[in-house]
Amino acid sequence: MGRTGLLTLVCSVLALLSVCLVRAEDAYKYYTWTVTYGTRSPLGIPRQVILINGQFPGPRLDVVTNDNIILNLVNKLDEPFLLTWNGIKQRKNSWQDGVLGTNCPIPSNSNYTYKFQVKDQIGTYSYFPSTQLHKASGGFGGLNVYHRSVISIPYANPDDDFTLLIGDWYNSDHKKLRQTLDSGRSLAFPDGLVINGQAHTTFNGDQGKTYMFRISNVGLSTSINFRIQGHNLKLVEVEGSHTIQNLYDSLDVHVGQSVTVLVTLNQPPKDYYIVASTRFTRKVLTATAVLHYTNSRSPASGPLPPAPANQFHWSMKQARTFRWNLTANAARPNPQGSFHYGKITPTKTIVLANSEALINGKQRYAVNKVSYVNPDTPLKLADVYNIPGVYSVDSIQSVPATNNGAAATIATSVIPSSLHDFIEVVFQNDENAMQSWHLDGYDFWVVGYGKGQWNPDKRRTYNLVDALTRHTAQVYPKSWTSILVSLDNQGMWNMRSAIWGRQYLGQQLYLRVWSAQRSFTSEYDIPSNVLLCGKALAHRP
Ligand SMILES: *[C@@H]1O[C@H](CO)[C@@H](O)[C@H](O)[C@H]1NC(C)=O
Ligand SMILES: *[C@@H]1O[C@H](CO)[C@@H](O)[C@H](O)[C@H]1NC(C)=O
Repeated sequence: MGRTGLLTLVCSVLALLSVCLVRAEDAYKYYTWTVTYGTRSPLGIPRQVILINGQFPGPRLDVVTNDNIILNLVNKLDEPFLLTWNGIKQRKNSWQDGVLGTNCPIPSNSNYTYKFQVKDQIGTYSYFPSTQLHKASGGFGGLNVYHRSVISIPYANPDDDFTLLIGDWYNSDHKKLRQTLDSGRSLAFPDGLVINGQAHTTFNGDQGKTYMFRISNVGLSTSINFRIQGHNLKLVEVEGSHTIQNLYDSLDVHVGQSVTVLVTLNQPPKDYYIVASTRFTRKVLTATAVLHYTNSRSPASGPLPPAPANQFHWSMKQARTFRWNLTANAARPNPQGSFHYGKITPTKTIVLANSEALINGKQRYAVNKVSYVNPDTPLKLADVYNIPGVYSVDSIQSVPATNNGAAATIATSVIPSSLHDFIEVVFQNDENAMQSWHLDGYDFWVVGYGKGQWNPDKRRTYNLVDALTRHTAQVYPKSWTSILVSLDNQGMWNMRSAIWGRQYLGQQLYLRVWSAQRSFTSEYDIPSNVLLCGKALAHRP
């Protein structure tokens, strides 16, 4: 046991006596990750993939809440590279978010050391490459935040815990797929669905014991349904929210999202199919793995458990059953503890409508008729060095234009807001395609899903009592989803489609959470090892 571990143990014993006077320094964890190309055959056909320390998927990052992560990322690819930490809140520290609005990409044969603390969140997350469509080749992995022993969680510690990274997959590599998007076409339907980068994975467990399954949709574009033959899934956590522990036969997990379930091995000793299949697609892609009872006497057999028959309606209804356990002691958005989000009047409503657009003859995607382009200088560096001309805060309207016929334009769109605002954001999806929206730097309350056009009357349908908080919310076709966000984290935050081709072709923007006062208590200083690029190069010390 390390020094910190020992102190934590002493602390938790003393905590029982309420006399815990010593507190361990928050631990530091050091990593060196080297990114290279390799060859793997997730669908049986060899192709180039992106490895981290020789692994595909990348190494699982297991951390404890309050840990400080010092992670040196060494890029040995032939292209600039960046990783983003999906759902890690990076409090006061958008410098470490790893997207092009906050960070210069790490040049080929160079490195960058991320330094961040994982705070006020416990749960299942993931990381993945944020630029150049690298995500289509791998470089992603599980990021599990465990509780400190002094913090209780609302379920017994499972006997073991499994990380399942599930996503659609192409036999073409990211350069080929990128060419398709760059030439102004959208991506074709994926070639398959993969669990942990493999066609066959087995998870072993003892009969009678309970196991945690941490499921993340790391794919590019398709929602999935997850189920285990003969077993119930007890939902315990969604992106940092401890939920009411309902039992489900199957769960929908949309692109960019994570859920954590407990599964008790309470069936006769044999092997059972673990199944993921694509949702809302004409052709259904299916991936299987095996849950193996250690005393099993027969292989998995029988028909695969079916996906839910009903499509969007079922899924929206299920989403409404994901609720906060209000009595569970857990990390919550600030202020900590019982936070009555439903009693706060939003300072502002932002309505974001997604659309397809043809711009200069090329396929693009837009938000409120603006299709985002990355500038050569990160927005965050433009702010700190007062570099003009990188972006403007009037580049996008915070509600869709009333003139629906207006043509979409290209811009580096930023929505301005103030630290401590409390905002309502409505995602309006008038398209026939499923959407999944993510916001960096925050978790937000998902208060409502509905069909058709949102209007202020829909607020009457909101869950203002026990909606859960998460970092990625799905929006059904011809429907809307509403979220409430407490803007307590200063910085420049990416709001993007998790549908990766849409994100790449412009369905994203930045939310600038700003206060005129510059102080270390609301935002950390520019890191000493910051990478510079674009117009920021002139500011090299
Ligand atoms: C690159 O790695 C070295 C250590 O190998 C480290 O000292 C340096 O700070 C890293 N560069 C950046 C930009 O973080
Ligand atoms: C909520 O959390 C409490 C406290 O940990 C737990 O005892 C209870 O079973 C949970 N309630 C539900 C409905 O999941």
